[in-house]
Amino acid sequence: RVHPILLCGGAGTRLWPLSRKSYPKQFSKLIGDESLFQASARRLSGPGFEAPVIVTADAFRFIVSEQLSAIDQPAQAILIEPEGRNTAPAILSAALWLAARDPEAMMLVAPSDHVIPDAARFRETVDAALPRAEAGDLVTFGIAPSRPETGYGYLELAPGADAGASAPQTLAGFVEKPDAARAAEMLVAGNFLWNAGIFLFSVKTILAAFEAHAPGLMAGVRAAVEGATADLGFTRLAPEPWAGLEDISIDYAVMERAGNLAAMPYSGVWSDLGGWEAVWLESGPDESGNVCSTNATAIDCRDTLLRSESEALEVVGIGLEDIVAVAMRDAVLVARKSDGQRVKEAVAALKAKG
Ligand code: GDD
Ligand code: MG
Repeated sequence: RVHPILLCGGAGTRLWPLSRKSYPKQFSKLIGDESLFQASARRLSGPGFEAPVIVTADAFRFIVSEQLSAIDQPAQAILIEPEGRNTAPAILSAALWLAARDPEAMMLVAPSDHVIPDAARFRETVDAALPRAEAGDLVTFGIAPSRPETGYGYLELAPGADAGASAPQTLAGFVEKPDAARAAEMLVAGNFLWNAGIFLFSVKTILAAFEAHAPGLMAGVRAAVEGATADLGFTRLAPEPWAGLEDISIDYAVMERAGNLAAMPYSGVWSDLGGWEAVWLESGPDESGNVCSTNATAIDCRDTLLRSESEALEVVGIGLEDIVAVAMRDAVLVARKSDGQRVKEAVAALKAKG
């Protein structure tokens, strides 16, 4: 029995102004007519999957339940974190919640903000990885890198492993978010995959790993789960033990330290939509390289993304090249597309202004 665990507490600041603290990218229809969160929930449904456990923030709880009911996809539980503490506490809380109900459960942990168009192929890949996870390994899904991306973590395959295999490979280590030089080295080396941030393991294996490598988190999260309260169909983790938890990702807390690791190569299309350039690319630019939303028009433009997020706003670009323009009712971004990763600087600057 595979229990999907969907993480959707992150803020996604690189897609400002569309992605906001109050309404982050996973809940927006960035590509296609479902939100990324809805597409993720649907991808992880069907035969062999239990209903998902959602781990999210208080501010998103109604967005989560509304978006799930809109696609007729009830959750097994919606766990509410008192505050965001990154992915390690989120995943551990789901593991402990499950352990009390189905100690033999397998967990498929997935971010809710990725684009994976081929659900059937993804499903086959999960099935191929399952025996290895059932045998007690921590399986991470990996993607063959196509550029020296510094926004992703990398999986280093053990000598003799095959990055193009359709079976789990032994993993030598994790390299979380390298600098540009290291990323370029790993691209040519050939034995590295991008860390998709998607994990498959048994509840027992992940609990043992937390016990061994992050015992401090274990005690706090256990208290938060044991002290959880039910509220209108949501499960509120207890705030006091949560407040003292370290803010740390699963990659740093557990994966970089564990020995029983495996990587499952995924050969289909995958993107984390980590910036406007990725949204442009995944939206399928037209023959001039442009992507225009409804209410946006490109005249004599090239390689440009124009989006209007309001029916009452027309966006028109003339003679632009390599530009992203995103107009919201209350904020407009105009930038060189290749500077897309600097959008975080805008968010920081606005925050400083108060
Ligand atoms: N519930 C909850 N609580 N979810 C969270 C929290 C939290 O405190 N923090 C992040 N998330 C969710 C995000 O919404 C996202 O769906 C997922 O967890 C991953 O977090 P990100 O913040 O998007 O991580 P990242 O993109 O910087 O890095 C991770 O993913 C990359 C691939 O997308 C790492 O695993 C990298 O190694 C990996 O390459
Ligand atoms: Mg991400």
